[in-house]
Amino acid sequence: MLIRRPDDLPASDITPESAYLNRRTFMGAAGALALGALAAPAAAFPALGRRQEDTLTSEEDATSYNNYYEFGTAKEDPKALSGDFKARPWTVAIEGMVKTPRRVDLDALLARLPLEDRVYRHRCVEAWSMVIPWQGVALKDVIARCDPLAGAKFVQFTTLLDPRQFPGQRRAVLPWPYKEGLRMDEAMHPLTLLVTGMYGKTLPNQNGAPLRLVVPWKYGFKGIKGIVSLRFTDRMPTTSWNDVAPEEYGFYANVNPDVDHPRWSQARERRIGEFRRRATLPFNGYAAQVASLYAGMDLRRNY
Ligand code: MTE
Repeated sequence: MLIRRPDDLPASDITPESAYLNRRTFMGAAGALALGALAAPAAAFPALGRRQEDTLTSEEDATSYNNYYEFGTAKEDPKALSGDFKARPWTVAIEGMVKTPRRVDLDALLARLPLEDRVYRHRCVEAWSMVIPWQGVALKDVIARCDPLAGAKFVQFTTLLDPRQFPGQRRAVLPWPYKEGLRMDEAMHPLTLLVTGMYGKTLPNQNGAPLRLVVPWKYGFKGIKGIVSLRFTDRMPTTSWNDVAPEEYGFYANVNPDVDHPRWSQARERRIGEFRRRATLPFNGYAAQVASLYAGMDLRRNY
């Protein structure tokens, strides 16, 4: 075993949930959060008319209410049907505009990269949201190991294609395999993570084991699960939801309360575990960190 996976750590090393709540690096966007207040009971904050606080979503909710169409389209399907999924051994193809295209063992790809804890808001395009403590490595550190050529402008990610393991891939719900992509500067942003764990444990199959993407300022569908390939390219790559419904799902998919989905509003969201809907924040609350990536772009056209 070359990397320290969360489940290899002695219990004393695992950060308790209470410690996530105090971490200064919490979610990056300190401006949108009252950090010291996180552990206080929600009742202490009359939400109306005030900025709403973020509290961690329960591990049970985050691992049983999922989108992973390879296992089925119902929220409970991924947990119910992923028990036998084989997340090791796992290889990742490094393809396209790189110095040396190759296939690497996942553990070798991640070896000796610092495993980071990041608590991020997670906002699905369906207008529900969660707050999740992820563990992973910064995508920029992995990209540095891929040696992309100077002309590479985008990176495309692909999920495993294996209808024997993925019952959902036996039906034409989406053009399989699922694909996603980022512009290179988005991929290199320090908030962008390749995730291998959550809640201090190895990533559950239903959440995308062994490797998924997390881009906290974008809608959750950008967070592709079960990644088997990183392809570097100079053209904006195909992405699954954009491919099937370009009017509904853009390539950028930045969380934007001002641009509604054609069939529903994106102004508010249902935080799983909470009673009232809350206001959705531009860039999911990470505007201070990422808005400059889109300077000069029309965010209504580039949705
Ligand atoms: N990745 C794959 N391969 N297949 C999927 O169906 N669903 C996406 C994304 N990644 C999906 C995927 C969507 S729509 C969301 S909101 C998130 O995964 C959900 O992640 P979660 O189940 O961990 O909350």
